[in-house]
Amino acid sequence: MTFQFILTEKKEQTFIITINRPDKLNALNWQTMTEIHTALKEAKQFEDIRGVIITGAGEKSFVAGADIQELSRNTPVGAKDFALQSQEILGFIENFPKPVIAAINGFCLGGGCELAMACHMRIASDNAKFGQPEVNLGIIPGNGGTQRLARLVGKGRAIELILSGNMIKATEAHRIGLVNHVYEPENLISETQNLLATIYSKASVAVKLSLEAINHGLELTLEEGVQLEANLFGLCMSTEDAKEGTIAFLEKRKPQFKGI
Ligand code: COA
Repeated sequence: MTFQFILTEKKEQTFIITINRPDKLNALNWQTMTEIHTALKEAKQFEDIRGVIITGAGEKSFVAGADIQELSRNTPVGAKDFALQSQEILGFIENFPKPVIAAINGFCLGGGCELAMACHMRIASDNAKFGQPEVNLGIIPGNGGTQRLARLVGKGRAIELILSGNMIKATEAHRIGLVNHVYEPENLISETQNLLATIYSKASVAVKLSLEAINHGLELTLEEGVQLEANLFGLCMSTEDAKEGTIAFLEKRKPQFKGI
């Protein structure tokens, strides 16, 4: 499938989506959002794809936000619809059954930060800059920024970032838990692939159920969350990989996981 604003590539077991509007710092217009959604729906079907990287084209920007050209033409009802539809796509990413990592190679602002926060993990190059600058445009985040940022970095820090519109550097984003790791730009993709390779060496059903338990559990009370975990733990015990993993440990050998 060919797209106008994204590039897709399958590199061994990893599906790489590169948002490709470098002349606009990879700003997310509606078509780019739908192309990301379409590409991910396709990737979900292939069993040999075990993880996804989302990154931006060029050296300057991951995504510099929603497309302000498009945004400026929105009506109130149109803006609400846009927000709801975008949130559905970000929800699809958050609930993707295989790990999705944002490899952040520069500006990660507004809708870009919201896209990155919907991914399961965020890895940044040391030149990356983060922020929710919507307040500078007289608006608030509309793609889950007020919700996911507070959940990731805590209420006080989220309020400061959203109310000030300030940008923070990758080191600060790392310090407050917004990104998992920071690397030099030339190592960003290879280090992201290394992390995915570690995950691919584990039992894929256990990876999938872990994602489900963490994602769904965070929206529940602790009591409900641990109940969900117990159910998924029991389900996981029914897999061949669970037998293989435990027996291999007892036999002092490396497990041979099959994904079943
Ligand atoms: N939407 C649409 N176009 C955007 C954009 C966005 N979010 N961010 C950058 N661009 C465009 C610029 O208009 C410019 O296009 P042009 O060359 O046709 O004029 C091009 O990308 C390069 O951006 P420029 O501003 O010249 O780069 P810079 O290095 O001087 O500044 C930023 C970089 C990120 C600080 C600045 O582009 C910016 O503030 N962008 C908007 C960020 C934002 O508010 N995002 C939240 C949107 S809700």
